Amino acid sequence: MGEKTRLQMLMRPRPRQNRRQLRQIALVLGLILLALYCLVSFWNRSGSSTTTLQRRQPLPAQVLNNLSLDEEQCRAHFPGLTKEIDDVVAQGPFQVKQTGDRGPLQGRIKDGRQIYIIHAQRKSDLSQEMVNSRTASLHQLHRALITSPSPLPDTIFTLNFQDQPFGTAWAYSRHADPSFGSSSSDDPNRRSFLMPHFSFWAWDLPFIGSMSRAAQAISSLEASYGYLDPPPPGRRGQKKKSKWHTKTPKAVWRGTPSFNSVHSPRMRQNLVRAARDQPWADVEALDWTGGSDRNASNALPVEGFCRYKYVVHTEGIAYSGRFQFLQMCASVVLTPPIMWMQHLTHLVRPAFSSEFLEGIGGRRWTPSDKVRRAWPVGYKAEEANMVFVAPDWSDLGETVAWLEAHPEVAEGIARRQRDLFVGAGYFSPAAETCYWRALVRGWAKMARTEGQGWEETEVIPFEMFSLTNTV
Ligand SMILES: *[C@@H]1O[C@H](CO)[C@@H](O)[C@H](O)[C@H]1NC(C)=O
Ligand SMILES: *[C@@H]1O[C@H](CO)[C@@H](O)[C@H](O)[C@H]1NC(C)=O
Repeated sequence: MGEKTRLQMLMRPRPRQNRRQLRQIALVLGLILLALYCLVSFWNRSGSSTTTLQRRQPLPAQVLNNLSLDEEQCRAHFPGLTKEIDDVVAQGPFQVKQTGDRGPLQGRIKDGRQIYIIHAQRKSDLSQEMVNSRTASLHQLHRALITSPSPLPDTIFTLNFQDQPFGTAWAYSRHADPSFGSSSSDDPNRRSFLMPHFSFWAWDLPFIGSMSRAAQAISSLEASYGYLDPPPPGRRGQKKKSKWHTKTPKAVWRGTPSFNSVHSPRMRQNLVRAARDQPWADVEALDWTGGSDRNASNALPVEGFCRYKYVVHTEGIAYSGRFQFLQMCASVVLTPPIMWMQHLTHLVRPAFSSEFLEGIGGRRWTPSDKVRRAWPVGYKAEEANMVFVAPDWSDLGETVAWLEAHPEVAEGIARRQRDLFVGAGYFSPAAETCYWRALVRGWAKMARTEGQGWEETEVIPFEMFSLTNTV
């Protein structure tokens, strides 16, 4: 082997080694860049995870009215819809105990779609309103079962249609403070699975009626203010000129001042007092003397609230079933921090008035520990879809004044609310059936029914019960 050749042999690996080193450097650089990219995009995502809900495109009507979306479609169209269910499922299994004919209604779901009623309070023990809410809830469940694209699991369920919590059951609301009731001795293992309020079916009040009537009436009213939902095919976003600024620039409320919770007695009287004779308020106690027993003389049809830029919300003994109608308005809901959660209240993104009023002096309030536990996150007014005002209403007038001075911010809050609950379809019939089916699945997964003598109980089919209201 000549000197040259040896040299070549010695030399040859060199460039190859160089190339390999270069490749390795490029690879490492690439990996670093990839890691950086992932980090940055993750960062962005976690930074804006709270805003993804707001950026959702409006869904077309044929999706919003489709009662037969499958699980995957439900998740894709309505992210976060089933948070309340998922949270309770995560608490693990529980026993379904017999309540007898004095507690909540109990029924069986069999063969994926047939409902049988096992226990129900006698009609004579219930007010007509209570019978109506029970009937409405059962019809919602029935509709979700018979339109399901796949059979649902068999189970035995407990449905509490009263406002007071009662053991482990499906319920309309739960306390917003997660530590509420945890020290109470009645049943530390109680599970409240939230179901949609009965008014998602119908509410026999002259100023509300069925959900479809109210939703339709609110949509046509909002359209008259230039709000279109969903946008016509081929159009992106809102092309019609907004006439939001022509809504009445006042805070509106109608209600019964004496319905207060033990946690905030006098809340409603305080509201009436704070707003009396104020130019920024249209607040009146309902006057039941003039109308019939079910229609107050100064009542507003539920869509009438959406004519105002600001709608005042008050919880009553517990949650307020009127809440979701106010949430359908493109108006700014002003409320003390909400203390009762319904099945979609977790989608509220509150701006605390004390935050944005801070710059302009005046009275401030500090959220209590209870409120902080219930609502750990406050949003900038530019991102929020609702405003939480001082629980004693002391800054209600100032809040309205601030919003009037910042009309774009105010309109933004109002729009984000309707965009989410109506435009993105969280209040739609499609989302409602999605939710009920997720509720049945979540409950069935954790419900333990053995050893309770369910096999021996007599049942009647829902179809029959829906006529007689009697087991
Ligand atoms: C509703 O959605 C299901 C599932 O995608 C689909 O099969 C069905 O055709 C839809 N129904 C209507 C009326 O659009
Ligand atoms: C309820 O009362 C108001 C005010 O008197 C009236 O305008 C409205 O038509 C009534 N509604 C019904 C359904 O009776």
